[in-house]
Amino acid sequence: MKIFPIENLRGEIKVLGDKSISHRSIILSSLGDSTVEIENFLNGADCLSTVNCMKSFGADVKFDGAKVFVTGNGLHGLREPKNILDAGNSGTTLRLLMGLAAAQNFFTVFTGDNSLSQRPMARVIKPLTEMGASIFGRNGNKNLPIAVTATKNLHGITYKMPVASAQVKSAIMLAALYADGVTTIIEPAPSRDHTEKMLAAFGTQIEKIGNAIKIFPAEKLTAPEKIIVPNDISSAAYWIVLAAVTKNSAVTLENIGVNETRTGILDVLKSMGASIELVNLRESGGELAADIKVTSSNLHGVEIGGAIIPRLIDEIPALAVAAAFAEGTTVIHDVGELRVKESDRLAAIVDEFNKISPRSFEATADSLIIHGGNEKFFGACKTYGDHRIAMALSIFGAATCGVEIDDADCVKISYPNFFEVFK
Ligand code: S3P
Repeated sequence: MKIFPIENLRGEIKVLGDKSISHRSIILSSLGDSTVEIENFLNGADCLSTVNCMKSFGADVKFDGAKVFVTGNGLHGLREPKNILDAGNSGTTLRLLMGLAAAQNFFTVFTGDNSLSQRPMARVIKPLTEMGASIFGRNGNKNLPIAVTATKNLHGITYKMPVASAQVKSAIMLAALYADGVTTIIEPAPSRDHTEKMLAAFGTQIEKIGNAIKIFPAEKLTAPEKIIVPNDISSAAYWIVLAAVTKNSAVTLENIGVNETRTGILDVLKSMGASIELVNLRESGGELAADIKVTSSNLHGVEIGGAIIPRLIDEIPALAVAAAFAEGTTVIHDVGELRVKESDRLAAIVDEFNKISPRSFEATADSLIIHGGNEKFFGACKTYGDHRIAMALSIFGAATCGVEIDDADCVKISYPNFFEVFK
């Protein structure tokens, strides 16, 4: 795929439904016992992996145009899958459903694609095993394929998470619904809280005290009639950055989810000098949404790290593009987690983004340094099959001298019509 330089990015850009909320809408609706109508569900490959897995657990999932109707068999009505569950490229599918499978009195086996098979799963297996689950994986219980054997009884635990991870937190929370006592999870910094918000909307008892979350065992989930998924801020981030760094741009993105555990990208871009305005702030199904207006601006480098990182973990490739246009150097600390995403994103940024702007991107084990303002060239770049690297490279090329990427198809993971929208 070749992307050519653009300027004057003006008008409204459409973004699809939030990936994280779409996954959770399918999983929790499958644990209720009435039909839930899901509006604006993201039809991306990752969320479809979750749909297929939940169908294997016995949920009824029907697509009707832009809507999805899900009917579960109750919290205790899951059935043993006949097939091996394939999570594809999706860490969220695999990790959340390991939590669910861990609590069942039946046998579940998970597989996934090449990328997912290399990603660390001990972080989920460890707390679930502490709760009483029995889980086996390749490489000494670290990787896919993973087998979860029948469990009769899980115990509530207090678990201090070594890394801020919404996927690990959510896996423990789902298992905790079935435990014989209260579970307390302590996060080093708050990660996205969509599971907590949606579980509360399904009538479960959850308490939040600082960075600690208490989950009480549940008899049943009471499903709402409807879930409306806001649009995905992680997808919007590419257009926000492109508009900010492209001359004469003025873009509006409608109905974007602006849950504060996800808006780190807006905070950092604003602190770099970006002109970003949130209008029509509203609440929809327990999640905040707003329209976002962005215009071109001159950016300057910043230094970030610590608690803001989980609030923008998926937006760092897009942020790195913004930093390449900023005056001065940007330093992003505490991003070692990027090495275990769909690709090693720190390596991908250094190896591929430098083809467009040489000597601009450097990484250490867990930080990223970007020298802004260097000369930009046409680049032929690799995506490593990583949707977020593909989209970040695409906007980088569009804002500079163009780019060619080797695997454009991988955007189907989170933003299937990205290139149509781009056109
Ligand atoms: C997600 C959590 C994040 C994020 C991923 C989606 C989720 O991963 O990177 O794209 O939906 O819970 P971690 O929780 O592992 O950081």
